[in-house]
Amino acid sequence: MNIVLLGGPGSGKGTQAKTLSEMLHVPHVASGDLFREHLKNQTSLGETAQAYINRGELVPDQVTIGMVRERLGLPDCQAGVILDGFPRTVPQAEALEGMLSELGRRLDVVAYIEVSLETLLKRLSGRLICAQCGFVYNLYFGPPKIAGRCDACGGSLEQRQDDRPEIQRHRIEVYWEQTVPLIDYYQRLGKLTRIDGEQDIAGVQGQLLTAIRAAGRRTRRKGSKS
Ligand code: AP5
Ligand code: MG
Repeated sequence: MNIVLLGGPGSGKGTQAKTLSEMLHVPHVASGDLFREHLKNQTSLGETAQAYINRGELVPDQVTIGMVRERLGLPDCQAGVILDGFPRTVPQAEALEGMLSELGRRLDVVAYIEVSLETLLKRLSGRLICAQCGFVYNLYFGPPKIAGRCDACGGSLEQRQDDRPEIQRHRIEVYWEQTVPLIDYYQRLGKLTRIDGEQDIAGVQGQLLTAIRAAGRRTRRKGSKS
């Protein structure tokens, strides 16, 4: 299965992709995580991306597409992929179609996780991440047992640099301007499934799984007719 999770900053893409990846045994490829990995490793790509990420703006398409193309070419992506945060612009979506068709594949489902502005802001403001193991908490929706400490490994919890209030708002504006047009784009291609992202994590997961299974059945039917 080749799946795209579409949604605003804080809509729950990463949370859902992590679980789906474990359940479906396909890798979770998150463009934001790939950028953060480059930043940590101080690569030249990381240096290029840093200023954009810190300002809450999108990294230029060429850089992002090149990075994702490389990741999708790795052997673990052969059986499928769950894309989180990519594509985020129409040129990225067009590039993705090209990449997949070069590999003889196509997108099975684009799940748009719909969440109100109020909820996005609350989730972003409450998010804390363990500096040691990467586990994601939320002060409002899933707090740690001991403030500031990871339940799993005892590591210290940190706020993501781009979750600061002034950057949060800008990321959401950028999302409205540059990513929301993708909703129409995929709707016209007949690939879009809307998911009610206001539900709790388990509720969103259930709806996503139903959509993915339905897409899988459609793909198998098409395959058996051709
Ligand atoms: P990226 O890391 O992709 O950030 P984002 O899209 O802004 O999304 P987030 O990671 O903030 O949110 P999420 O939807 O994953 O939510 P999460 O599951 O963590 O990108 C960062 C930057 O990199 C961009 O700004 C840009 O600069 C650059 N970049 C990345 N991709 C790019 C691209 N394609 N092109 C160009 N530039 C790119 O959940 C949030 C919180 O809510 C958590 O605390 C979680 O526990 C909680 N939560 C989740 N679901 C629920 C629920 N159902 N109920 C209650 N709480 C919930
Ligand atoms: Mg994320």
